[in-house]
Amino acid sequence: MADETTTLAGPHPPEPSLPPVRDWPAGPLVGTEFEPVLAELMREGPLTRIRLPHGEGWAWLATRHDDVKLITNDPRFSRAEASVRQVTRLAPHFAPRPGALAWADQPDHNRLRHAVSAAYTVSAVKRLRPRAQEMLDALVDDMVRAGSPADLIARVLEPFPISVVCEVMGVPLDERRKLHTWTREIISTAGGADAAELAKKGLFGWIGQAVRDRRDTEGAGDGESEDVLSLLGAAVRRGELGEEEAISVAGPLQIGGEAVTNNSGQMFYLLLTRPDLLERLRADPASRPAAIEELLRYIPHRAAVGLPRIATEDVDLGGVRISAGDAVYVSYLAANRDPAVFPDPDRIDLDRDAGAHVAFGNGPHFCTGAVFSRMQIELLIDTLLDRLPGLRLAVPADQVSFRQRTMIRGPLALPVAW
Ligand code: HEM
Repeated sequence: MADETTTLAGPHPPEPSLPPVRDWPAGPLVGTEFEPVLAELMREGPLTRIRLPHGEGWAWLATRHDDVKLITNDPRFSRAEASVRQVTRLAPHFAPRPGALAWADQPDHNRLRHAVSAAYTVSAVKRLRPRAQEMLDALVDDMVRAGSPADLIARVLEPFPISVVCEVMGVPLDERRKLHTWTREIISTAGGADAAELAKKGLFGWIGQAVRDRRDTEGAGDGESEDVLSLLGAAVRRGELGEEEAISVAGPLQIGGEAVTNNSGQMFYLLLTRPDLLERLRADPASRPAAIEELLRYIPHRAAVGLPRIATEDVDLGGVRISAGDAVYVSYLAANRDPAVFPDPDRIDLDRDAGAHVAFGNGPHFCTGAVFSRMQIELLIDTLLDRLPGLRLAVPADQVSFRQRTMIRGPLALPVAW
């Protein structure tokens, strides 16, 4: 790949056939505002070239809904190839674990995903729902008991997803406090990179032992409604998965609650700063499921872009040639603001059909936790709106601070009163 770069202020195309390479610096990001660099790239064309703060070279960026769907569903774009290259990226460090779902291509990806899929189906999540409601009620009880005002993130939006994840994973009750602490260290920006690394070591070590224990327990994971660790232990026992692979699959699933904390943090921030939206959802519970989809479409879930893919052969896309070996990013956030699919896309419109959004991705790498996340978000909206009819921000909106230098965006704290 050539390495010529321009800034957004001054494009100087290096070759007539290729768009210029744009530098995409990290942040700063404001509240729930759409990232301005991404908005500019979307205006420049359906396929642009970008260079992020870390890694090497440049990569293509696709922003249109139809291109994003095509690329993410086309085996000519490989994740496994990207895992062994230093593709230009947002994250300073890059150490993909062999066997991680996100970096696998077919047929490995199917094999890895199949091992845990039973725990995330619609019916499995339906079975989990009453227990999740109990856990949420207990957290809201505690918050109410401690009195108004309170930090909704610390009291509910962080501990709830971590607790539900422990339930799905099959973490024994007396081990949960330890896992809560590790998970919090990993997802919080407060303790720094070293603390997060140490916590990861602790968590992955614990998961490894848990998988081995279940592997050695005859019958564990062979039943119908099994937890993730038992399913993985059984898959290792049957020889379908290596032990390291099982750990690589389990790790992101254990930490995945972070996404719900931050996504619902942004959702409640939007609702609490937009009384028209909040009132509508309070008054009309039937409108909530569609409203959640519209908010998922609108929320800028992450900074910059996620994981890249590598083209394994030349692919022509809308008159542009992506050459074999080129790195390619898609932006699900940009696709969710494609005016061809969502007219007036920067407006939250609770009456639109947002069903075509790609907030959970698309294709084989579609989010494993999508049904599970929706269930948690529905419970959060129903429980907090119905139990606390006076719920409001306890500080002016501009005093809510948001995570910076982070992959997943969300408020650091959400002070509320009721
Ligand atoms: C609102 C919350 C969430 C959002 C918006 C979200 C979004 C996404 C997106 C956009 C992807 C990437 C698709 C791609 O690579 O092309 C993804 C992948 C993934 N998510 Fe989520 N996610 C959420 C919650 C969760 C939760 C709670 C879990 C775990 C229980 C989870 C586990 C995963 C895993 C394992 C992958 C990789 C799947 C694969 O590559 O096969 N996510 N998610």
